[in-house]
Amino acid sequence: MSNKHVTINDVGPRDGLQNQVKHLTVEQRLQLINALVNAKVPAIEVGALVSPKAVPAMAGTDGIISQLPSANCDFSALIPNRRGYDNGHTLGIPMMSLVLAASNTMNEKNIRMNTAAILDVSREVLQQAKQDKQAVQAYVATAWGCPFEGDVAADAVLQLCEELLTAGAARCVIADTIGAANPEAVFSVMTKLVSAFGADKLSCHFHDTRAMGLANVYAALQTGIRHFDSSIAGLGGCPFAPGASGNVATEDVVMMLSQMGYETGIEMPALLAAADLAIALTGTAKGGKAKYWLEQQYARS
Ligand code: COA
Ligand code: ZN
Repeated sequence: MSNKHVTINDVGPRDGLQNQVKHLTVEQRLQLINALVNAKVPAIEVGALVSPKAVPAMAGTDGIISQLPSANCDFSALIPNRRGYDNGHTLGIPMMSLVLAASNTMNEKNIRMNTAAILDVSREVLQQAKQDKQAVQAYVATAWGCPFEGDVAADAVLQLCEELLTAGAARCVIADTIGAANPEAVFSVMTKLVSAFGADKLSCHFHDTRAMGLANVYAALQTGIRHFDSSIAGLGGCPFAPGASGNVATEDVVMMLSQMGYETGIEMPALLAAADLAIALTGTAKGGKAKYWLEQQYARS
């Protein structure tokens, strides 16, 4: 892969929908996934194999996984524990994502385990995954700030990544769950992580709560990161992280990257159609900030 190639993982069908007041049906969620596949998005987080009591909007993810289209796309699902792993492995999802936070209180609120306990669970899952030859990556949430504990030390993020990568995680996704990061903080943390583990083992996930999502993507790009999460139409938010708003919008990220000479393989007109669908299905997504401009460009061509 050239140094100008960036892989986008659209987390709209999971991060984007988990916090919606209106719960979409399995058919509607599949419609959104198919629209993203149609735009040639190379990786999609399709749902979460979690307790339906904890996150009702993600109920039915098993049904989604068994109806995924056959496409050249890295489909993934979030898992909080061994049960999620076993379920995902049986269903044949290509990638699973463990979710841990760099702050203890967030782990307790999100998955009802403290950091030591979720690390134990993660090691066990990763051990099993090794035997099963199943790819599992790990989210390191609240990496630039926790809604309960405030600032998070870069060393806590580094240590958690070290544990998870050593235990066999395919990659660590460094997540700004509440959109607390700024470009300098991103540059500082990601420079440390890239020098410790290499850019190939890392990805970044930004929320646009304080309108710094795109600037944060740019800062991470400068440290060598070439793998990003984003969410169609800027959908998003975590039900257990007060104040978390949507992810940086996929269409904005793809536009910025393309204007800087990076390629993602994503087709913009079909991506804009997926954004329109996300807006129509949820009634809450706003669409990327460049939506109006992008629509003008593609209406003209
Ligand atoms: N998939 C489906 N159901 C699951 C499950 C899984 N992976 N893990 C547990 N459950 C079910 C249990 O069977 C139990 O069901 P019951 O009440 O009908 O008996 C219920 O969930 C609670 O299980 P328990 O083991 O007591 O867990 P808990 O109440 O301590 O909750 C989690 C722990 C991890 C299951 C729950 O907090 C969770 O799913 N969190 C996900 C959070 C999330 O997705 N956040 C957004 C991502 S950032
Ligand atoms: Zn998120």
